[in-house]
Amino acid sequence: MRVKIRFGKKMQRAWLVKAVVMVVAWLQVPLVRSLEIGFYATRCPAAERIVSRLVHLASRHDPTLPAALLRLHYHDCFVGGCDASVLLDSAPGYPPPEKMALSNRSLRGFNMVDMIKRVLEAVCPGTVSCADILALSARDAVVLAGGPSWKVPTGRRDGRLSSAVLARISIPRPQFSAVQLKKNFLWHGMSTAEMIVLSGAHTIGSAHCVSFWDRLYHHNFTNGTDPSMASYHAEQLKKICPISSYKSKQRVPLDPITPFKFDNMYYKNLNMGLGLLASDQVIHDKLTSVLSSNSTLWERSFCKAMVHLGNLNVKTGSRGEIRRNCRRRN
Ligand code: HEM
Repeated sequence: MRVKIRFGKKMQRAWLVKAVVMVVAWLQVPLVRSLEIGFYATRCPAAERIVSRLVHLASRHDPTLPAALLRLHYHDCFVGGCDASVLLDSAPGYPPPEKMALSNRSLRGFNMVDMIKRVLEAVCPGTVSCADILALSARDAVVLAGGPSWKVPTGRRDGRLSSAVLARISIPRPQFSAVQLKKNFLWHGMSTAEMIVLSGAHTIGSAHCVSFWDRLYHHNFTNGTDPSMASYHAEQLKKICPISSYKSKQRVPLDPITPFKFDNMYYKNLNMGLGLLASDQVIHDKLTSVLSSNSTLWERSFCKAMVHLGNLNVKTGSRGEIRRNCRRRN
């Protein structure tokens, strides 16, 4: 007697899903690798040293450079992952790149990355990705500004897609509420605590008047000033950024007390109503108060969060490419 085994529709679907998952997993084996600490140790032993040396030398001439490099890495990772897509220039046949998005127009440090890439291409051609240059130079920038150090997992490859539209929807704006900021970070797979800890990067660097103009002259669609900003600070800022300064090139330090030092002054500033951006001041809560009095905790958490940030959607193995010029696809 023959026994017929009948699969119900549900069972058939489950088998189909399993089969698809297995095929996809099998296909991905050679494609997906994780980042490694010391990825270049055998491939290009001098790579990490070259990056830190060049960042060091250039920052002596331009002490604002560390802030620029740190922000570049963050903006790269938040748009389609850490794949140096932020560095791509416009090219015929491709959509406007990330660089063209409003939130990215104030990014700096592109020439520095070009210079590092040129040296690395001379020493180890086709080996070190632009995405890794961004991750390494962000760490070196923090160290140079007197902040903590961490081991940067490397092995990222460079992406071929770069979209201004994606940048516009992925990068949080300084006018976001606390809820919007939290949602944005969660969308990227990062927690609220990580958002608060990483915002401490605003202990260095500067912002254009336009980034906080609303707080001075147009708070909540009124003609008033944001009451969460210390009034004497607001008066000072109005002198540097008058009402006509909406489009001015003037920059103001994000941390008015120790603008070049990577310390936890950012959190102390929030306690005193000295946060420059609305997005800084709205995240002021219990955790920011704790971090303002525990710099060791902040530094440790910052390093961990930077490693997480640097892992977002990375391309490894056979995905992506090692660009020869960071501004152009090969
Ligand atoms: C929480 C959401 C964030 C918002 C809304 C935000 C927004 C901004 C804005 C508006 C500026 C000034 C741009 C200008 O006017 O030129 C700025 C500067 C900066 N941001 Fe953020 N940011 C955020 C998170 C971060 C994170 C996570 C990092 C790094 C891990 C970072 C690093 C920096 C640095 C270093 C600068 C100074 C750049 C320079 O001097 O050129 N920011 N940010």
